[in-house]
Amino acid sequence: MNYEFILVESEYQPHIAIIRLNRPKELNALNLQLMLELKAALASLDEDDNVRCIIITGNQQAFAAGADIKQMESKTAIDLLKIDQFETWDQIRKTKKPIIAAVSGFALGGGCELAMTCDMIVASETAKFGQPEIKIGIMPGAGGTQRLTRAVGKALAMEMVLTGKFISAEEAMKAGLVNRVVAEELYLDEAVKLAKEVTQMSPISIRLAKESVLKAFDSGLQEGLYFERKNFYMCFASEDQKEGMQAFVEKRKPKFEGK
Ligand code: CAA
Repeated sequence: MNYEFILVESEYQPHIAIIRLNRPKELNALNLQLMLELKAALASLDEDDNVRCIIITGNQQAFAAGADIKQMESKTAIDLLKIDQFETWDQIRKTKKPIIAAVSGFALGGGCELAMTCDMIVASETAKFGQPEIKIGIMPGAGGTQRLTRAVGKALAMEMVLTGKFISAEEAMKAGLVNRVVAEELYLDEAVKLAKEVTQMSPISIRLAKESVLKAFDSGLQEGLYFERKNFYMCFASEDQKEGMQAFVEKRKPKFEGK
């Protein structure tokens, strides 16, 4: 499929696909078409048995500076209701394979929300995270008030959402929003390194484990524990479980086939 606003490589590295947001002049502002392309690309990579981990990135200047303000400016509430533009975010969240956001430069508004919808975030030292919607007379609408609060806690989330203040990569690291911070020239390599670790594991247990961690966000403890237990038992239906445990006993490296 030909995309206008994203670049997709399904074999960037063995078992690792990459999606680059590609509207550099607009700091990768997320217009509707870009989001639809992103949704389509993720659905297609999710179906591709060769892909075990997906990286979403932008460029050094910007991961994404938010939803496209120029496209939204003249919209009414009813227009937004009809377009239901944040439905695409729900689809991203449904991706079964792990997604790593490799963030450099601005990750603002919808850009910060997109990064938080991913499973892990690797940031360059120059990354800036923020929910500045309040400065343009609106508020976060693609999960910012919920995911940011769960990630960094009420005090910092409230301050970021109510004042639009940006935080640096280092602050984001301290607050628990990102996994790693590295020099600007290394952030993509670092994301690949992390992706490689994930691709060494059984794709089946990775899928079940990701699903179980995400369950912690929208269930009570008891329900989450039952869900985790069911997925744990499910791992034992895979050949990868036998291979992983046999390899441990035989003191060799396992070879996971995703079966
Ligand atoms: N939408 C549309 N265009 C955008 C944009 C956005 N979110 N962010 C940047 N751009 C455009 C600018 O209009 C500019 O275009 P022109 O050259 O045609 O004027 C170009 O990208 C470069 O931007 P700047 O000249 O502003 O660059 P800067 O370095 O001076 O500032 C910035 C960078 C601080 C990120 C600034 O661009 C900015 O504040 N952007 C908006 C950030 C924002 O408010 N994001 C939230 C959007 S709403 C949202 O995301 C809702 C939601 O919950 C999903």
